Amino acid sequence: MPILKEGELDFISTSAEQTQRLGARLGALLQPGDVVCLSGEMGAGKTVFASGVGAGWGAREPMASPTYTIVHEHRRDTDSNRLAHLDCYRLNSAEDVESIGFDDLLEGGAALLIEWPEKIEGALPVERLWVRLRTVSEVHRSVHFTPVGERYVQMVEQYRQSVTGA
Ligand SMILES: Nc1ncnc2c1ncn2[C@@H]1O[C@H](COP(=O)(O)OP(=O)(O)OP(=O)(O)O)[C@@H](O)[C@H]1O
Ligand SMILES: [Mg+2]
Repeated sequence: MPILKEGELDFISTSAEQTQRLGARLGALLQPGDVVCLSGEMGAGKTVFASGVGAGWGAREPMASPTYTIVHEHRRDTDSNRLAHLDCYRLNSAEDVESIGFDDLLEGGAALLIEWPEKIEGALPVERLWVRLRTVSEVHRSVHFTPVGERYVQMVEQYRQSVTGA
């Protein structure tokens, strides 16, 4: 029996900088319409990872925490693609999900990076990349990737090659 399911990937990050760089390698792979869910308890490093995703994708503005506006849409200079960064911490109901126009976001062609995705679990597409951060020690974080769907299995394989050089 394998320890990891097929397509899964697991790292231990030893610093915030390393977590940021792990995010950046993922950001470089994002295509329009991709959905990345970023889960983990408070302080696990979701926003650190997300800032890396933004940098790797090429966002003009730094990916700060969007907490108060819930959704921040980012642009880059290389093309007209968009990256929407969501922090769903404050959302609790289906009406809340509607209030942020989540379905329009899903259909709008932006890549989505969603912090606290479990808050909108029922509204998430079945096919997505799930990234789970866990605090292991003061400076160690486990970073676990679970792809659902062919697109994301392929993304994780590309990502594994990018990160490990294998
Ligand atoms: N290996 C590591 N990876 C990421 N962050 C780390 C690591 N080691 C220490 N840290 C620290 O942990 C904190 C992570 O904070 P961050 O804001 O990213 O968490 P979060 O998951 O977004 O929390 P919240 O849900 O409260 O927004 C930062 O202060 C960061 O410097
Ligand atoms: Mg955060």
